[in-house]
Amino acid sequence: MVEAFAVASGKGGTGKTSNTLSLGMALSEEYDVTVVDADTGMANLLFHVRLTDVETTLHNLLIDECGAKVENTVYERFGMRVVLCGTSLSAFERADPDRLQDVVAELASETDVLLLDSPAALGSKSVVLPVILADRVVVVLQPTIPSLSDGLKVQEYARSCGTETAGVLFNKVHEDENVVAIADKSERYFGGPTLAAVPDDDAARAA
Ligand SMILES: Nc1ncnc2c1ncn2[C@@H]1O[C@H](COP(=O)(O)OP(=O)(O)OP(=O)(O)O)[C@@H](O)[C@H]1O
Ligand SMILES: [Mg+2]
Repeated sequence: MVEAFAVASGKGGTGKTSNTLSLGMALSEEYDVTVVDADTGMANLLFHVRLTDVETTLHNLLIDECGAKVENTVYERFGMRVVLCGTSLSAFERADPDRLQDVVAELASETDVLLLDSPAALGSKSVVLPVILADRVVVVLQPTIPSLSDGLKVQEYARSCGTETAGVLFNKVHEDENVVAIADKSERYFGGPTLAAVPDDDAARAA
């Protein structure tokens, strides 16, 4: 049975997109994985996978007049299927977020794991939609009080729409941060386990 995860965080730049890909690559060793750039306003998965000139993107599916088909937006990359989103502001303005649910449902019918790279923050309906549509949320955090506070807000919002927490992923961890102790405490407040603690690393930044 398919399971859909939203990879989300409070603030921007925590590492949602980078870790959506890392999670996807790890899971693809066992499962059929589809990754979707559901950050339709600030899409950048296309840069991370270095597919910047694809013909059909999620925007085309969200704009009725484009008449695009889901199957034409799916590209193979790093052992996964990826659905990218364009960076055009006018396409974002024309896109109808209400169409995302059907796109997600169609993709879900053909995969084991669906990872929705989500926008930061809790803003408009379109921003929170991936969290609403997912079965569970992976919260990406840094091991700091502001980031934990943001993450708890994301979890609270997700729960209010019936989306439970799959786990917490600490990213950009610095050597002087005692992530083990922080994770130990954070597990009391977050619904899922600590999935990983990824160091702040030049190699990750360059990837
Ligand atoms: N573990 C890490 N160590 C160092 N740099 C990292 C790490 N993870 C991500 N980065 C860098 O941080 C920046 C933001 O990462 P990413 O785009 O994955 O964040 P994001 O949460 O998706 O951002 P946004 O909220 O804008 O969508 C990128 O330049 C990325 O290369
Ligand atoms: Mg991102």
